[in-house]
Amino acid sequence: MTAKKKLVISSGAGISAESGISTFRDADGLWEQYPVMDVASADGFARNPALIHKFYNERRAALADVRPNRAHIILKELEKDYDVYVITQNVDDLHERAGSSHVLHLHGELLKMRALDDPSLTFKVTPQTVTTPQTRIDGHLVRPHIVFFQEAVPMFEPATELVHQADVFVIVGTSLVVYPAAALMNYVRPGVPVYYIDPKPSRVPAGVHVIAKKATEGMAELADILTKS
Ligand code: OAD
Repeated sequence: MTAKKKLVISSGAGISAESGISTFRDADGLWEQYPVMDVASADGFARNPALIHKFYNERRAALADVRPNRAHIILKELEKDYDVYVITQNVDDLHERAGSSHVLHLHGELLKMRALDDPSLTFKVTPQTVTTPQTRIDGHLVRPHIVFFQEAVPMFEPATELVHQADVFVIVGTSLVVYPAAALMNYVRPGVPVYYIDPKPSRVPAGVHVIAKKATEGMAELADILTKS
């Protein structure tokens, strides 16, 4: 029996769009409704932590009303033929709910809170959890387990190692605007095929196969290509 090839996916907000979760930079995206530096930066958190708790309480509550879509599910199904590793910028849990075995969250997770006095301590919460700057879990004041702008991205290095091992690399539903996530493709080994699924693929790096479709359609097309090769 030959070892399965390693398929590494880098997903962004676009893969969850058809589940009903807003992207950030499309028309009507979250960053049109909320000033990003108020609700998603380290300075914003220092200035007005209550606003940030409220913003993420709302994002978390919305998870109760959404489900993984066909694109998330196809990624799980591809595990039959490939060792699939998902690196996601998304803070939702839709890859996990679709059953993907390996999911690395670059920008944190809505369903976790983190101790303010010990960043290594995280606590699982539910979509119904509501927090404020005064909330304590196991005695610790907590903040959302989200990577804010102006903060380091601790999971970037493990993500680059996965990308370096990829036999196929797929980017889906991201504007490739936010670094370091957008730089992941630089870690692909020479000769490894790279696909980019996005209905508006704005920044297409050289040598990338573009599938200019929504995630559900584009993933179905990609699965056809990958399972016939
Ligand atoms: P963006 O909102 O920047 O980009 C969303 C991408 O999804 C765009 O390229 C859209 O064309 C595409 N898109 C829209 N609908 C789609 C669909 N049905 N199928 C596939 N693609 C679709 O979101 P990200 O690139 O994920 O970080 O944003 C990166 C980071 O910026 C986020 O993780 C977040 C944000 O600030 C933090 O908050 C830390």
